[in-house]
Amino acid sequence: MHQQLSLVGFVASGNKGLARLKMDCGRILSTFPMPPRFIAKQLSRPSGLFAPIISWLMNRHNAKLNAFALDQLRLTRADRVLEIGFGGGLNLPFLIERAAFTAGLDRSPEIVKRANARFRDQIRAGRAEFREGHIEHIPFETGSFTRVCTVNTVYFWSSLDAGCAEIRRVLTPEGAAIIGFLPKTHMDKMKMPGDIFTSRTEDEVIAALRRNGFANAQITRPTPQTAWAVAVASA
Ligand SMILES: C[S@@+](CC[C@H](N)C(=O)[O-])C[C@H]1O[C@@H](n2cnc3c(N)ncnc32)[C@H](O)[C@@H]1O
Repeated sequence: MHQQLSLVGFVASGNKGLARLKMDCGRILSTFPMPPRFIAKQLSRPSGLFAPIISWLMNRHNAKLNAFALDQLRLTRADRVLEIGFGGGLNLPFLIERAAFTAGLDRSPEIVKRANARFRDQIRAGRAEFREGHIEHIPFETGSFTRVCTVNTVYFWSSLDAGCAEIRRVLTPEGAAIIGFLPKTHMDKMKMPGDIFTSRTEDEVIAALRRNGFANAQITRPTPQTAWAVAVASA
């Protein structure tokens, strides 16, 4: 905790301070065998002064999974895509560049505020929109999107069925969804607090997609040794 408090002091000291703060956070995270509740909470909903730091860390540590997940989307210029739980916004420039329209949904007000500022021009041009809200009640009309993606969020859903049903609802009949996550066998080793993180198996995610009307639901990963997984399914 002493380390975390001393970090906050860097925030006010400009870009150099921010860069140093980010480096120190990386060291702190790798030092703790069990991430402190504070970090787990920030991952589940970035907030306050720490939101930019946790965003930077997520973008850095989750880059490979997100890049692979984006590949599975098979985006075309005609697509309308929704990313749920976009966090640090790593995927947003790619989505905005490749799709006709990109929407983002996140339950963290700070995260949505940051995206609104960062993509002000694209929002004005009608090519992007960011809303605060929960996957369990997606604040978009039925059939609004041809693609929905969400990465590293299933641990925080109140239930897999609630999330999958809502993703299915906002997709067009020809739409597709991808869900990237670290499955239970690996997630449990990280000893995240159980009241913040709920580990999910690959079978549980696939079964929830099927129960909620998705077809061809399957797990994919770049190599059999890769720890994380991406579930792909057609609406
Ligand atoms: C661990 S971060 C992952 C961020 C990014 N997708 C990545 O892979 O780096 C989880 C993000 O999802 C958001 N989130 C968590 N649960 C959510 C829910 N039920 N509905 C909407 N957003 C949620 C959090 O606020 C946070 O920004």
